[in-house]
Amino acid sequence: MSELCPVEMAVKKQQQHGDTVFPYALVCPDTDASLANAASWVNTQRADLLNLANQHGAVLLRGFPVTGAVDFDTMVQALKLTNFPYGESLSNAVRINRTDRVFSANEAPPEVQIFFHHEMAQTPIYPRWIFFSCEIAAEQGGATPLCRSDVLYERIRDAQPQFAKACEDKGLRYTNVMPDEDDANSGMGRSWRSTLGVDSRGSAEQRLAELEYSWQWEANGCLKATSPPLPAVMEASRGRKVFFNQLIAAFSGWKDDRNDPSKAIQHGDGTPLNSEAVLSAAQMAEDLSFDLEWQAGDIALIDNTIAMHARRPFQGRRKVVASLAEMQTQTFALNC
Ligand code: FE2
Repeated sequence: MSELCPVEMAVKKQQQHGDTVFPYALVCPDTDASLANAASWVNTQRADLLNLANQHGAVLLRGFPVTGAVDFDTMVQALKLTNFPYGESLSNAVRINRTDRVFSANEAPPEVQIFFHHEMAQTPIYPRWIFFSCEIAAEQGGATPLCRSDVLYERIRDAQPQFAKACEDKGLRYTNVMPDEDDANSGMGRSWRSTLGVDSRGSAEQRLAELEYSWQWEANGCLKATSPPLPAVMEASRGRKVFFNQLIAAFSGWKDDRNDPSKAIQHGDGTPLNSEAVLSAAQMAEDLSFDLEWQAGDIALIDNTIAMHARRPFQGRRKVVASLAEMQTQTFALNC
């Protein structure tokens, strides 16, 4: 089997932060490479690839012979990481499993914008890694914006030091209302049964109690749940702090028939957020955005503790699939 020799490439609007680029990109110039070649290359390079994703925030693989969810699954398996199945996650998005490791990124309608977030940072369990692959690029729009969260947090600290301190000291708690049945018209329409992996109210309450959530049943069968206090800022490595939360997404986008963004998030001690500071943080994230314009076959390897992601609205068909790996847990102790 011939060896692949992917090369580093520059991408349009690639960013430079210190001695890192965002995203780091590798192209496979070998046009007759097979999937087996590609998976074997990923397997031998896996430590380097994950290091690059950690250092730079994201690695884009372009031009590899990957034509769908099953091929993507093969590439992800070659990284030899522990799978984090969607079924076990507390994600609020409706998704469809394509393989054991791969699911649709979000079934929300094309016009729905999904705002910046770290995957599942609004819950006590989150994946260290999130990988995306594009099966079909949208005719218009549909980019996946990426944002370096360490750079963002430096800017927030400079511009809004009091807000940054409140985030560090008080953390955040999130409230969302889950429907009785999946609602694919919403970016956060996953039913409480599916979210919690249960089939009765009693089991739902038991699971929520284990996770230290508080909850309330609503008249229409919906379940309103509030998380325990969770961190708003994480020290990803020594001295490298990241804005690891879902604040921007919750504040800007947790909106549907059941949810009102103004009630979706507060500090961990129950105090309200400084909405001006949140809007300014959201704008800073937008200013730092790198819009990944998908080409079919692209793969993005993202360190979920370093980079946030989002979704632009789109027109036409778009299929981007995702895979999560290495479940982590987070807890928070109030410092006030
Ligand atoms: Fe996400």
